[in-house]
Amino acid sequence: MQPLLEGRGLVKRFGQVQALRGADFTVFPGEVVALIGDNGAGKSTLTKVLAGAARPDEGGILFEGAPVTLERPTDAQRLGIETVYQDLALAPDLDGAANLFLGRELLRRGLAGRLGVLDKAAMRRRAVDAFARLGVELQDIDAPIGTLSGGQRQSVAIARAVAWADKVVFMDEPTAALGVLQRGRVLDVVRKVRDAGTSVVLISHNMPEVLSVADRVEVLRLGQRVATFTAADTSVEELVGAMTGALDEGRAA
Ligand SMILES: Nc1ncnc2c1ncn2[C@@H]1O[C@H](COP(=O)(O)OP(=O)(O)OP(=O)(O)O)[C@@H](O)[C@H]1O
Ligand SMILES: [Mg+2]
Repeated sequence: MQPLLEGRGLVKRFGQVQALRGADFTVFPGEVVALIGDNGAGKSTLTKVLAGAARPDEGGILFEGAPVTLERPTDAQRLGIETVYQDLALAPDLDGAANLFLGRELLRRGLAGRLGVLDKAAMRRRAVDAFARLGVELQDIDAPIGTLSGGQRQSVAIARAVAWADKVVFMDEPTAALGVLQRGRVLDVVRKVRDAGTSVVLISHNMPEVLSVADRVEVLRLGQRVATFTAADTSVEELVGAMTGALDEGRAA
């Protein structure tokens, strides 16, 4: 099967630090692929590079088999690639609908036919739909995001990404701050997105969670891809071994 999105030999330096050292990464259509690795392995940096939020110093990106240059996030968004960043980047004072449309507000014609009035009713309707499709339950759709629980905020961030992505959604540790129930709900959302045909790249440190939701797993260590697994054929021990390098050492011994 042709990969949907591919990073090849990606290098990214921040001064003396080399966050990516020739990293490869592959996303196939309609899959959940987990991107795992220890703290500092380069997961967030790789996500930024593949979502147009950072430029690689070396290496290439292929989308549906063709080389692409992603200068900025809108270049990736135009291809149907969206990201839920580790720090969410929501506007706490705005409600869910306003966050869903942040930077992409719907406008309607105002007096004298001038375009430029926010179409709040349409945005609210579409937001209610988007949340309902993903099973996101907000008691009060008009509440500012800052007043919601962490899990609800996370769900709004995911709904926003999913509303605009039709190819790939990157989710950088979407469940890290969540309790058991909320974590389960976010994982249900991940599955729903995948089942609707959009690929999901899930970054997580929780190995049982990775094995329960991912179809494949790619492992990053020290800025390079060191292993890929089919989720059904691997184990927590094997994943941890690949992340830490213990497996290599075991083999070498
Ligand atoms: N903007 C930046 N400026 C300088 N160094 C950076 C920057 N972003 C990332 N780095 C460095 O690059 C390396 C990889 O960081 P990155 O955030 O990609 O790791 P990560 O795998 O997402 O880790 P975590 O699991 O802790 O989120 C780290 O050494 C980090 O300090
Ligand atoms: Mg990170």
